[in-house]
Order: sequence, then structure tokens, then C-alpha cells
Amino acid sequence: MEHVQWARDLARRLLEEPLPRRWAHSQGVAEQAESLRAITGQDADLLTAAAWLHDIGYSPALVKTGFHPLDGARYLRDVEQADERLCSLVAHHSCALIEADERGLADELSREFALQPKELRQALIYCDMTTGPDGGHLPVEGRLAEIKKRYGPADVVFRFIERAEPDLLDAVHTIEQQQANRPT
Ligand SMILES: [Fe+2]
Repeated sequence: MEHVQWARDLARRLLEEPLPRRWAHSQGVAEQAESLRAITGQDADLLTAAAWLHDIGYSPALVKTGFHPLDGARYLRDVEQADERLCSLVAHHSCALIEADERGLADELSREFALQPKELRQALIYCDMTTGPDGGHLPVEGRLAEIKKRYGPADVVFRFIERAEPDLLDAVHTIEQQQANRPT
């Protein structure tokens, strides 16, 4: 839990003032991670910390390459000396490797950060892809449509979402199924 509080405080420090919308989004993503505690078990704190921190790479203080998963993960690794699994979850959040490929950064990303187990990556996708830009929750289909609309067809993010869509949908539906099946 200490880990989670540290992650929340760090995300707040980096996002709240310069990027209030990203901060609102991050709070909503962390809320979703908390809601998955029953299925994430011993990794619940790790997932929640990653949810708080997944978008810190957008903070103006951190921008280096302009690719936020890589900038955020490098900051966590090099400045915060954060847990390796946490850095990797941030680096690869929401199919970042596909966007890295669009940006010519796939080799760098996979050389520096190992992929974490699929269950954890899918749980983080669920949290991010069911939370809108203002922190409210919505179905994944609406979230994907919102991202594509916000960026527009000429943007690299639009192309990334088109390529990643099957994996993102599969991840969210898998987690929803697990939640529905869990014993009450
Ligand atoms: Fe996000």
C-alpha cells in the first residue's frame, strides 16, 4: 500500500498542475485498478501503482522522445529507481509496442523493458481503456472511438489504435469475463 501512495503522490506532483485532465484520467484509471483487487491478488498494489503512473510521460518535466510510455518508464527507472516490473508495465501499457513501431522506437522499447505477464498487461489495458480523458468510466468501444476522434486519421495515434484494437478489445473483454466469473 505504501507503494501505491508513493505512486499517487508522484503522479500528482507531475500531472496535477500542468495537465489537470491527465491527472483526472489517471485518478479514474487507478480507481479501475482498485476495483480489480479481487482478481489481481498479490499483484494488486503493483497494478494500482502502474495505473497511477502510466501517463506520467506526458508531464512537460519528463518529455524527451515525445513517446510517453518510454519517457515515463525511463524516468521511473533512472530518476526514481523504481521497481523493474513497474517500469516495464508503464513502458508497455496499452499495447505501447505497436505505437513504438509506428514511431520507429520499438527496438529501444523492447531492449530496455521486458514485457510483463499477459494477465497484468491485460488488467492495465482494462483500466486505461475503460476510463475517458476526464476520468469517467465508459465501455472500451466508446473509449477507442473517442481516442480516434480526438487525434484524427492523420495522426500516428489513430494508426496505432487501428492496429492495436483487436488486442485492446480482447484484453478488456477477458478482464470483464474474469470479473463476472469471480466468486462473490
Ligand atoms: Fe491512459
